[in-house]
Amino acid sequence: MNNRDIKVTDDPKALDVDEYLRLLRGSYWASSRTDDEDRRGIANSSCFSVLVDGKWAGGARIISDSAVYSLLCDVIVATEYRGKGLGRRLMEYILEHPNVKKSRVFLVTKDAQKFYETFGFKTHPFECMMRPKSAQQKERREQRHRPAGRPETAFGAYSDTGPQAPQVALTGTCPPSLIPPAAP
Ligand SMILES: CC(C)(COP(=O)(O)OP(=O)(O)OC[C@H]1O[C@@H](n2cnc3c(N)ncnc32)[C@H](O)[C@@H]1OP(=O)(O)O)[C@@H](O)C(=O)NCCC(=O)NCCS
Repeated sequence: MNNRDIKVTDDPKALDVDEYLRLLRGSYWASSRTDDEDRRGIANSSCFSVLVDGKWAGGARIISDSAVYSLLCDVIVATEYRGKGLGRRLMEYILEHPNVKKSRVFLVTKDAQKFYETFGFKTHPFECMMRPKSAQQKERREQRHRPAGRPETAFGAYSDTGPQAPQVALTGTCPPSLIPPAAP
């Protein structure tokens, strides 16, 4: 990268969206997303780009409240530019950015822990939980199939004993306070 002009920027206009989407479709974590989903994600987050001689060479996104929490995602450098220090330049710029600097930055990665550790990332002592998209699809399916007039319960399932004597359909563990009293 000697004698090359390397620039990192938060200018949305610098992002080569088509190239970013192409790289993401080839990644292990975003291969099943659609371009439309990613375009919406890009439009609603802060995007960062690293440019080599004016050509887009990599990027990342931050979803942040600018104070407490930031989520770093879709960090990727084009294959031909990897291992030349661009990922480091990109990360240093992002972590010093005023919208990110004071917040706790979270990320999820399968195999690049060593890369992130050099910027101070550590494994969080609490367990990370995620609600997968499939759970939303299941919920929507259940709502579509809920018979009219049947109440929805706190757990998203419907009561099948009729509207006159609603009864919570228990799925999973139910705290005693949520169990309705027996009908007289
Ligand atoms: C991970 C990635 C963004 C790093 O960018 P890069 O430009 O290749 O990294 P750099 O050249 O700036 O390397 C900086 C340091 O991190 C190390 N490093 C790079 N990629 C690494 C990886 N996947 N795992 C562990 N360490 C890594 C380098 O060896 C280098 O160490 P050094 O400073 O001791 O020499 C890039 O390789 C990439 O896009 N990989 C594919 C996508 C990916 O895995 N993204 C992260 C998943 S969340």
